[in-house]
Amino acid sequence: MPSNNPQEIEVPFHRASITDAEIDAVVNVLRSGWITSGPLVKQFEQEFAEYIGCTHAVALNSCTAGLHLALEALGIGRGDAVVVPTMTFAATAEVVRYLDANPVFVDCREEDFNMDTAQLPDVIAKGQSTGPVRAIIPVHYGGQIGDVRHLKQAAAAHDLTIVEDAAHCCPAKFRDSDDSDWQNVGSIGDVAAFSFYANKTITTGEGGMATTEDAALEERMRIMSLHGMSRDAWKRFSKEGSYYYEIVAPGYKYNLTDIAAAIGVHQLKRADELHRERCRIAEFYSAKLGDIEELILPRQMQHRLHSWHLYVIRLKLDRLTIDRKAFVEALRDLGITTSVHWMPLHMHPYYRDKYGYRPEDFPVAARLYDEIFTLPLFPGMTEAQLDHVVSSIRKIVADHLLLSV
Ligand SMILES: Cc1ncc(COP(=O)(O)O)c(C=O)c1O
Repeated sequence: MPSNNPQEIEVPFHRASITDAEIDAVVNVLRSGWITSGPLVKQFEQEFAEYIGCTHAVALNSCTAGLHLALEALGIGRGDAVVVPTMTFAATAEVVRYLDANPVFVDCREEDFNMDTAQLPDVIAKGQSTGPVRAIIPVHYGGQIGDVRHLKQAAAAHDLTIVEDAAHCCPAKFRDSDDSDWQNVGSIGDVAAFSFYANKTITTGEGGMATTEDAALEERMRIMSLHGMSRDAWKRFSKEGSYYYEIVAPGYKYNLTDIAAAIGVHQLKRADELHRERCRIAEFYSAKLGDIEELILPRQMQHRLHSWHLYVIRLKLDRLTIDRKAFVEALRDLGITTSVHWMPLHMHPYYRDKYGYRPEDFPVAARLYDEIFTLPLFPGMTEAQLDHVVSSIRKIVADHLLLSV
């Protein structure tokens, strides 16, 4: 029984919401004798495609695998350049490097931390000096889709493919105006990659899904996800299958297991309920922290449905005597675990040293990095935990007002 005594309340950053249905489904798979990719993977793919509203879905062991396979299937290779936001997780750019292509970073905008599309013409022009710019990978930061119109315009003007990093987005939607229909994440680009990592909106522990409308891309991703084996090789141990397969390319080992898919099938059934929970918690934070002038809270932009994978707040450092690091440590001392999403990629040693980036090359991301941290947000958070987070933030702010020193 969790404690209601503020001295004793622990608030983890995340806790997966797993019910008996997921547990029973995993046990059934384990008892069935078939535990790797099989019928449950197929079921998960079909049901996910239906949920997201896309034609093809390929289940994988991570979103990183999906991003890698997408670029490979689109023919990105040595010396090509790919536009990537600097405000993202390692995976978005490392997959470009896997293919010996180069990421060309772009700064983010303040309002939603998504790629600043106004900079795309300049970034693309500059990128051409490193090699032909072939693709853009927009990241829907925290589960909110960014500026679709200008992204698509820039891609069309330069004949670039779009691979959506939709790691945070199950579900997320957008529309152009009050009168237009809602559109699903995944409908913006040629391929979208979703993550089912442990803290994501639906989880399989580790896992991912690549979605596309293009049958040829689907086929290439599927083949490359399993050693480059000819299309139906995954069936080879089943009744319909045969021992015979051909290797058509040097592929990878990215398939999802039926154990993980069993969890996924049930998480997907609960996706709307899990999303409602996330919205409830985000609304609570916004209502209870909204009057603190020393903070800037995240907001749902117009014509966007936010997955609320992340709830990221900013400190107004010019009004406080405490920096982000000390703030996060003070919360930790009160039993609250937070995180930071992210140190921008251009500030990490690998990219800094390889491409000679300086922090000020992407000033918005560099500044935001000093100000941001991510609050705990997971289905099933108790009232006591939520109150504890809010009162602790209030106390730390009150103890460190610049005017009071
Ligand atoms: C923006 C972004 N892209 C990609 C990934 C990679 O996801 P996965 O761990 O499923 O490979 C993550 C993981 O958190 C992420 O935050």
